[in-house]
Amino acid sequence: MTETTAPPRPDTAPSDVPTFRHFIAGEWMASVGGRTFDSRNPADSRDVVGRFQQGTAADVAMAIKAAETALPMWKRTPAPKRGEILYAFGALMVQHKERLARAMTREMGKVLAEARGDVQEGIDIAFLMAGEGRRMAGETVPSELPDKWAMSIRQPIGIAGIITPWNFPMAIPCWKIMPALVTGNTVVFKPASDTPHCATLLVELMAEAGVPPGVVNLVTGTGAEVGDAIVESPDVNVISFTGSSATGKSIAVKAGGRLKRLSLELGGKNGVVVLADADLELATDGILWSAFGTTGQRCTAASRVIVEQPAVEPLLQRLESRAKRLRLGDGLLDSTDVGPLINAAAVDKVDSYIDIGRSEGDLVTGGGRARDGDLAHGNFFEPTIFAGVGPMDRIGQEEIFGPVLSVIPVADYGAAMLALNQTRYGLSSSIFTRDVNTAFRAMRDFETGIVYVNAGTTGAEVHLPFGGWKETGNGHREAGHVALDTYTEWKSIYVDFSGRLQRAQIDNQ
Ligand code: UN1
Repeated sequence: MTETTAPPRPDTAPSDVPTFRHFIAGEWMASVGGRTFDSRNPADSRDVVGRFQQGTAADVAMAIKAAETALPMWKRTPAPKRGEILYAFGALMVQHKERLARAMTREMGKVLAEARGDVQEGIDIAFLMAGEGRRMAGETVPSELPDKWAMSIRQPIGIAGIITPWNFPMAIPCWKIMPALVTGNTVVFKPASDTPHCATLLVELMAEAGVPPGVVNLVTGTGAEVGDAIVESPDVNVISFTGSSATGKSIAVKAGGRLKRLSLELGGKNGVVVLADADLELATDGILWSAFGTTGQRCTAASRVIVEQPAVEPLLQRLESRAKRLRLGDGLLDSTDVGPLINAAAVDKVDSYIDIGRSEGDLVTGGGRARDGDLAHGNFFEPTIFAGVGPMDRIGQEEIFGPVLSVIPVADYGAAMLALNQTRYGLSSSIFTRDVNTAFRAMRDFETGIVYVNAGTTGAEVHLPFGGWKETGNGHREAGHVALDTYTEWKSIYVDFSGRLQRAQIDNQ
């Protein structure tokens, strides 16, 4: 059970770029296709983090076979023992937190303090799920008949296909893999192509913690090749995916055709309502953190601020002067407030919304790529604010996934609530008000999976359900004990100890 393999010794490629491998059946191995791809630092594209295997369907087939072989042993391992391995993994993450955070900032750009937070979310879910190994409660209920026992238990679904994004490259894999493991599933894990190094570091620690060979298998590569092969395999029983709505919908079609369990965590267009009675300093702090933290690349990021008319001007003044002072740069530097976007395509996408924003509202600050000095080789974009945006305007509706904030003026709480709900997404929302009655109305009225009162839209904690309404997902939740629902089948068990045939619904009339 505690068998592990040594961490991968990166081969040194001729160019001195370390090469990393898939992890299948407890072995670090090259792709059968022989192709690789590079992961680069988004703050400086000259810095190559590593060379990674460009996975193929054949690699995925091997990973699935390994997961299948390990499954009988893993699902019969007592859940508290599985939990102990998760606990050991969480403890290793604590020990290596700084190294993991620095590697994350280098590979995906978020500032170091936020990278530490990302690692911490991974630790939190590891410890929460370790505890589930001793809970994982079913129900024992009275039977309608004498001398009969009725109860329900959770059992693993089988092989879990875990497909994760780059924006929380350690937290989100842990949100998915920890509940999958504690419930007795084995895993095939495909991380985003932008963050294969973060994934490799996590899997190294899982092996070191005692996750047995074949229980977690890592295959790097593209969604089209590796992701599709996982989703379309008849042997993978549950898929958990976080990413764009477009990809999520296409996965849903493929998984739906196979009646496969699927948990989707997709886009957001999260709103903050600021009423005239709000503490505007507090609201400004919350909005800036939610809009420009992680460079706006959180699914929970705030991109719409819906403001009651009297507060519009004073709030805009505060937002503008504070946003102008945010310093762009390499997230490893203490002086940096906002890191780069993930890649050049993301910069192009954000840039494409600037003209749209200019035609729909008034540009208050930002609006351009940032290339001066040390920023020249990175994917930097200025924190951007548009004022006078209508709730149905494109910049107020479409997920931009970057540092672009739209300010939408409204007449009163009723109009604010309507505007907030007028989006096809429903992940997170917030309201700033000093009126307790209005705060409770918002908690009731906002159509989102998460509602904050007098705080920004980010910062969900791992012991409550995480997920969204409407097109943000398909009704499943991550984190909290409800995360177990994604990875388990329910079994209801009846034990009749009367010694005769008792017919339910008939003999009790
Ligand atoms: C995400 O962007 O998908 O609440 C996850 C938050 C974080 C998690 C975000 N705890 O913003």
